[in-house]
Amino acid sequence: MQTYVYLLVFLHIADGCKLSDYSRITIDASSGGSAVLPCSCADPQATVSNLRWQYRKENVVGGFNDIYPTDETQRFKSRIQLVNAAAPGNFSLHISHLTAEDEGLYQCQDKNQTSNYRLVTLQVKFTATVSTPRPGSGIKTTPSTPRPGSGSKTTPSTPRPVTPKPNGDSLSTPEAGKSLPFIPFAVVTVIILQIIVAVVYCTPQKKMLAEFTTAQLMEMEV
Ligand SMILES: *[C@@H]1O[C@H](CO)[C@@H](O)[C@H](O)[C@H]1NC(C)=O
Ligand SMILES: *[C@@H]1O[C@H](CO)[C@@H](O)[C@H](O)[C@H]1NC(C)=O
Repeated sequence: MQTYVYLLVFLHIADGCKLSDYSRITIDASSGGSAVLPCSCADPQATVSNLRWQYRKENVVGGFNDIYPTDETQRFKSRIQLVNAAAPGNFSLHISHLTAEDEGLYQCQDKNQTSNYRLVTLQVKFTATVSTPRPGSGIKTTPSTPRPGSGSKTTPSTPRPVTPKPNGDSLSTPEAGKSLPFIPFAVVTVIILQIIVAVVYCTPQKKMLAEFTTAQLMEMEV
């Protein structure tokens, strides 16, 4: 069994470049970002002289379209390049400025030996950076937020009378508290002023009385 596997591997190496182990690869990327779709010869020394990348949408009837080296779709031209051009057996494809439209099935294939290929599924997810512009640009979502906002405005309006009421109560209670102590304070002040006036008015009389009494006493002594 091991010798059989070894023989198979040897035969494939002998064949040249083997692009796939036939297990499909799924690459996750985010919109606006970039992705590297891996494809390389099992033997790093091997290469494919006539390699192409193809693309087709998943769950859509229709064949593959070439995207590299020629772009039949006209969609990828300026956005794709082989990453590791230095390694002759590495045909990994870099795609930048991804959009949801780029989702689908990618295939790197030896044009001269079409059974030698690898399939890569690309999934493009929306990121927070893309979802944030969307509500910003999407006027439909912004009205939906104002609507709850206006609803919240009406709800505040109902709390507003409620909040003023406590405010009014709190204001009226301090006012009553202020006015209530103010009245006795004024009364006390008036009484104190009256006492002062009375004292001031009486003191000369007392003085006179005192002088009079002292004078009397002086007379008495004399
Ligand atoms: C091929 O190149 C890409 C990008 O440089 C790298 O990530 C990948 O590991 C390479 N594949 C092999 C088998 O060396
Ligand atoms: C691949 O096929 C083309 C013609 O389609 C031919 O010119 C070329 O020599 C072939 N390359 C190899 C390595 O067989």
